[in-house]
Amino acid sequence: MRLKDKVAIITGAGMGMGREASVIFAGEGAKIVVFDINETAANETAALIAADGGEALVVVGDVSKEADVKAAIDAGVAKFGKLDILYANAGVLNKKLDLSVIDTTEENWDRMQAINLKGPFFLTKHGIPVLKQNGGGSIILVGSISALVGFTLAQDSYTCAKGALIALTKSLAIQFGPDNIRTNIIHPGMIDTPLQAPYLNEDKKKAIAAEIPIRRLGVASDIANAALYFASDESTFCNGAELVVDGGFFAG
Ligand SMILES: NC(=O)c1ccc[n+]([C@@H]2O[C@H](COP(=O)([O-])OP(=O)(O)OC[C@H]3O[C@@H](n4cnc5c(N)ncnc54)[C@H](O)[C@@H]3O)[C@@H](O)[C@H]2O)c1
Repeated sequence: MRLKDKVAIITGAGMGMGREASVIFAGEGAKIVVFDINETAANETAALIAADGGEALVVVGDVSKEADVKAAIDAGVAKFGKLDILYANAGVLNKKLDLSVIDTTEENWDRMQAINLKGPFFLTKHGIPVLKQNGGGSIILVGSISALVGFTLAQDSYTCAKGALIALTKSLAIQFGPDNIRTNIIHPGMIDTPLQAPYLNEDKKKAIAAEIPIRRLGVASDIANAALYFASDESTFCNGAELVVDGGFFAG
């Protein structure tokens, strides 16, 4: 029970890494605010948590809308009395519309920024005051190895949003460390989730796995377990850290 008595809000908790983290965190004793734009997926995550004896509150909303994010935080506090963990997991890729700067429209650039960068802005803007009231907490942001090395096939808005989250991690770590609020960022490598599904088939997976020293794609639990460490009191001296979880791709 590594998260006993803690309350976590996880954005994008309906699928992929967010769902996996919701189930793992709940299994470790946390109550979860399951926030997602997809109501069916969010309800499925909550049902998995309930089936395992855990407690979840579903809030349907869009991380790019400030009012939705604030409403989710307020609902979580009303239901569970506090928040300890802000996990800004929701993010989107769009390999058809998010391209090199020379080929991307302003509208498509802005949509990627709105979800991938403004979403974490809204979650931390409205969540940090709640953590402060509670004497501290843990903020987990999700970057990407693309922000460290770039994509071979450019997705410049996504890459820039993820890069900006590294800067935000450092800034929040310095600002709110004195309030006992830790901010850390995880950089996933290639993880087999619904986000990647439209772009993968078995042949592509084999080709990608051959480029990764561990010789497989990641799975959602690889990232959720890293997030569990940052969420738990085992990492109370980690603040402003970047954790690459990519099977060694970045090293190779
Ligand atoms: N899968 C990878 O290979 C990979 C690699 C690097 C980084 N990441 C990052 O990891 C995070 C999780 O990715 P994943 O692969 O689990 O994604 P996923 O697509 O499998 O799941 C994302 C969830 O977020 C929800 N969501 C999407 N837009 C939303 C919005 N506007 N408001 C609220 N919820 C929204 C979706 O409904 C979905 O349930 C993202 O930030 C992603 O950018 C993923």
